[in-house]
Amino acid sequence: MKKELTINYTAFNDVSELSEIDKKLFEEAKKARLRAYAPYSNFLVGCAVLLKNGTIATGNNQENAVYPVGTCAERVALNWVSANFPNEKIEKLFVIGAPKDIQIETIPAPPCGVCRQSISEYEDKQKDTIEVYFANLSGKVYKVNSIKTMLPFTFSGEFL
Ligand code: THU
Repeated sequence: MKKELTINYTAFNDVSELSEIDKKLFEEAKKARLRAYAPYSNFLVGCAVLLKNGTIATGNNQENAVYPVGTCAERVALNWVSANFPNEKIEKLFVIGAPKDIQIETIPAPPCGVCRQSISEYEDKQKDTIEVYFANLSGKVYKVNSIKTMLPFTFSGEFL
C-alpha cells in the first residue's frame, strides 16, 4: 500500500512580513551568529529561543578540532534553556546559518537532523509544540508550527 505525507510550512519573502517579536528573534539570531565559534567550517549559525516568560536565549555553533565534538547553534541554545529554565515553556526557535564570507544567498538553511531530534525531545518534554523559523541573512524566512513537520516518523522516548 503506497501512502503519502505532505507538510505545511509558511514562507516569508522579507522580514517586514514578520510580527514584531519575530523580527526581534531574527535580529537576535543574526547577532548570535556573529559570535559563533566556527574556525573549521567557517559556517556561522545563530539561534534565538523565545520562552513563555519573555526571555530570549541565544546560542551559536561551537566547533572543536575533533570535529564531532562540535555542537550546533540550536542545541547550544536549547540545552542552555533546559539547564537554566527547566520548567519554562519554549514558544519559538529562530535559526540563521550562512558562510562567514557569504557570496551568494541560498534558501534558508534548515536545522540539521540531530537538532530536529533535539527540538522534538523538548516538544515532548513540555507537551507542546515549538514554532521553528529558519532564515537566510537577507530575510527570507520559512516557518513550521512543530519540528515534527520536518521529522516525520519521529523516534521518541515512547519507544523505549
Ligand atoms: N550547524 C548548526 O549550528 N546548526 C545546524 O542546524 C546545521 C549545522 C553548524 C555545525 C557546524 O559547526 C557548521 O554548522 C557546519 O556544519
